[in-house]
Amino acid sequence: MSSENIRDAVKERYAQAARQARTGNTSCCGTSPAQDGCCDPITSNLYSIQESGDVPELALRASLGCGNPTALAELKPGEVVLDLGSGGGIDVLLSARRVGPTGKAYGLDMTDDMLALARENQRKAGVGNVEFLKGEIENIPLSDNSVDVIISNCVINLSADKDRVLREAFRVLKPGGRFAVSDVVVTGDVPAEVRKNVELWIGCIAGALRDTEYVGKLAAAGFESIEIEPTRFYDIEDARQFLGGQGLDVDAIAPQVAAKFMSAFVRAVKPAPAG
Ligand SMILES: C[S@@+](CC[C@H](N)C(=O)[O-])C[C@H]1O[C@@H](n2cnc3c(N)ncnc32)[C@H](O)[C@@H]1O
Repeated sequence: MSSENIRDAVKERYAQAARQARTGNTSCCGTSPAQDGCCDPITSNLYSIQESGDVPELALRASLGCGNPTALAELKPGEVVLDLGSGGGIDVLLSARRVGPTGKAYGLDMTDDMLALARENQRKAGVGNVEFLKGEIENIPLSDNSVDVIISNCVINLSADKDRVLREAFRVLKPGGRFAVSDVVVTGDVPAEVRKNVELWIGCIAGALRDTEYVGKLAAAGFESIEIEPTRFYDIEDARQFLGGQGLDVDAIAPQVAAKFMSAFVRAVKPAPAG
C-alpha cells in the first residue's frame, strides 16, 4: 500500500469508528472484537473510575487508545500539551484538567468525523483551554518550540512515515519538552507473515515499530533519555479467532508470538541547551 492509500484507509476506518461511537456501540482498535463481543482486549480498562467520571460518556465510548499517556506524562499546571491523533478527545480533555486554566491542550486529527465528535465532547465537558486542530501528524500545524508535552495514544503505529512524525514532534517541542506516548510496539523477532496478521488484528495498518527501531528513530530525530516501558502484552488467545480465520495455525505460532506484541509507554526528551 502507498502512503496515500494507508492514510485513506486509516481515515475511512476512524470516520466509521466515530459514527459508530455515536450510535452507542463500542468500537474497537483491532479488527475483531473479543469473542464474546463485550470488550476489546486492546482498548478496555485503560482509564481509572475517576478519569472515566471526568469526561463525557461519549468521549469514553469513543476511546480507541491502547494506553493512558496522560496518566503517565506527569503534566503540570500551565503546560501546553499536544495529542497526536486525538480521536474523540478523551486524552485532550483529561490533559486540559491536569494543566489547568493557565495551560492549554491541543488535539490534532485528520478525520472530520472524529474532530466533530471531539468538539462535541469538549462542549459537553465545558472545558475552555482546549483546541482541536485539523491536520496530519506528519505535518503538525503548530510553530517550532511551542509545546511542553506531546502525548499520543495508539496513533503513531498507523503512520506510513514514522520518521517524519518523530521529526515533527521534535520540531514543535520546546527545548526540554517531553515526548510521552502510548503505542503498539513489537519486541524480538516475529516471522513476517505472522507479524503482518497480528498487526492487522491489533489494527496497525501501517505496521508497528520494533522497540529497537523506535529507539533508533527517536534518537535520529534528536531525542534523548529514551525509554520504552511495556504496559500490556497481547495474549494470542484474544486473537485466536481472527488469526484462525486468516488461515494460520494458532497453536503452532503461539510460541513465536508470546510476549512479542505490547502496548508500551514511550518516553523521550528534547534536549535543552546546556547552561
Ligand atoms: C486508534 S485512534 C486513537 C484515538 C485517540 N488517541 C484515543 O485514544 O481514543 C487513531 C486516531 O488517529 C487519527 N489519525 C490516524 N493517523 C493520523 C495521521 N496521520 N494524522 C492525523 N490523525 C491521524 C485517526 O483519525 C483517529 O482518530
